[in-house]
Amino acid sequence: MDDDELDVLLRNERYPRSGGYPARWLVDGAMGPNPAWQAEALAEVMPFKTGMRVLDLGCGTALSSIFLAKEFGVEVWATDLWIKPIENLRRVTEAGVEGQVHPIYAEAHALPFAEGFFDALVSIGAYHYFGTDDLYLGYCSSLVKPGGQIGIVQPGLVEEYESLPPPHLESHWKWDFCAWHSPGWWRRHWEKTGLVTVEVADLLPDGWRDWLQWNEACDLDNGMPGREEAQMLHADGGRTLSLSRVVARRAS
Ligand SMILES: C[S@@+](CC[C@H](N)C(=O)[O-])C[C@H]1O[C@@H](n2cnc3c(N)ncnc32)[C@H](O)[C@@H]1O
Repeated sequence: MDDDELDVLLRNERYPRSGGYPARWLVDGAMGPNPAWQAEALAEVMPFKTGMRVLDLGCGTALSSIFLAKEFGVEVWATDLWIKPIENLRRVTEAGVEGQVHPIYAEAHALPFAEGFFDALVSIGAYHYFGTDDLYLGYCSSLVKPGGQIGIVQPGLVEEYESLPPPHLESHWKWDFCAWHSPGWWRRHWEKTGLVTVEVADLLPDGWRDWLQWNEACDLDNGMPGREEAQMLHADGGRTLSLSRVVARRAS
């Protein structure tokens, strides 16, 4: 597929800032649903200001880090385990934000940062890999200044169910979807620590449609239309699955 066709498939009026980035750049760095859209959705409820220090935890190919740096002038520590920092440094340099986005190789439980160093922490499509443990928020929130914000977006559920999967998703379900949770679950998971105040816990408006739009475009681009995840999202039609967004503020 040529780049113009891909741009058209990934046009999404809800995310005007993301529309300023080539779809090819986003798709080539893809590890999950469009990280620029998700970062832009976080920015709706997290006021990023020039010079703020932001930890992008589980940044993957650092697309969200580059997006936040370019759009809001923040300084980002783009931290990831599976993608090596040399690869992200190349992307950061090509994007012209070297010195503003710092690629870091680290495991989420052993982060090489001082307590209270960051103004904000974001995590896109990643927090559920390490953050469902009851005690994890205590660790990662300690890296954020008192009064700073923590914002995450990742695949989630409309609500918590007695049993999973729901019958209509049985043929699509993978065991590790057990880490996908509803906004209400995340609210309680964080609030019960007493360490933060949850300011937003919702499903991204039309989140499942965004996710499906992204997958369909990527599948077409790969010459493999209608792969497993897109089939699942189609079958579900937003009944069960979407993208959970949670934003909290560390107590002052
Ligand atoms: C599905 S990818 C999402 C990447 C990127 N944020 C995006 O939206 O494209 C999940 C990311 O979580 C990171 N991750 C998973 N477990 C981690 C851990 N224990 N410590 C640090 N990063 C982790 C992986 O390295 C991976 O890049």
